[in-house]
Amino acid sequence: MNIFTLNDFSTTDINSILDEAEEFKAGKKVDFKGKKVVANLFFEPSTRTHYSFDKAAYNLGCRTQNFDTTNSSIQKGETLYDTVKFFESIGCDAVVIRHPKENYYQDLVGKIKIPLVSGGDGTGNHPSQSLLDLMTIREEFGHFDGLKIVIVGDIVHSRVAHSNYEIMKRLGMEVYTSGPREFEEPGYNYVDFDTILPEADIIMLLRVQHERHHDLMKLTTDEYHRLYGLNQERVNKMKERAIIMHPAPFNRNVEIADDIVECKQSRIFKQMANGVFVRMALLNRVLSDD
Ligand code: CP
Repeated sequence: MNIFTLNDFSTTDINSILDEAEEFKAGKKVDFKGKKVVANLFFEPSTRTHYSFDKAAYNLGCRTQNFDTTNSSIQKGETLYDTVKFFESIGCDAVVIRHPKENYYQDLVGKIKIPLVSGGDGTGNHPSQSLLDLMTIREEFGHFDGLKIVIVGDIVHSRVAHSNYEIMKRLGMEVYTSGPREFEEPGYNYVDFDTILPEADIIMLLRVQHERHHDLMKLTTDEYHRLYGLNQERVNKMKERAIIMHPAPFNRNVEIADDIVECKQSRIFKQMANGVFVRMALLNRVLSDD
């Protein structure tokens, strides 16, 4: 079993992964007793996804191998396929991969026999992030149906936005996007941020991904903050029960004001905590699949 995109999962599957993640959060124990090995292969920088997959594996009694691309034979030109095949050959039971190339996994499907779990593919998808976002929303509201979310920022370059837009709509949420028009994703439900803000149940902010484009943003960071940044003035216009989310890393005082990161309505660090539990549920699923 591989996990590349949530498109491959029914809404029943999604809810059952979230159920198990909540059970892990409540103390459910699964112990592979050191007999399973998970390799983490991150070809792009990561803090949250890498180290919460590592912690999830540890919590399940697995051992991990954390691949360091900078000191590996990638530097000698070894391909992704040959690298993953190596980890399969030495007896790893699952591989978590983040890679800058969208759909990188197409080079691996059908050729690698152990489970592959994506930690994000370029601007494509980020399934485990989306699941931790869903877990955080379900914990907060108890359901998805009819909730209004606005995702604000660099939509077109965001694998988080792409994963969330699809699955949140499928789960019955009203999904809107906003931000600079140069970052708009064609076909998405674009709205003016200040118009939707007082109606939204969830404000999800995204980082401008300068590393994926050069000079595409026409605004200075100050202008961005003034037009799209979540500051106290905008927080005051939010619904009383509305929450603030961000996949992080965040640019303080660009898409979110410094004093809003940990304000009462922010669930940003709760998202990170939930990341371990959804990744435990994902690893348990792939490692238990015969
Ligand atoms: N949210 C997220 O994917 O963070 P990292 O890039 O630090 O893994």
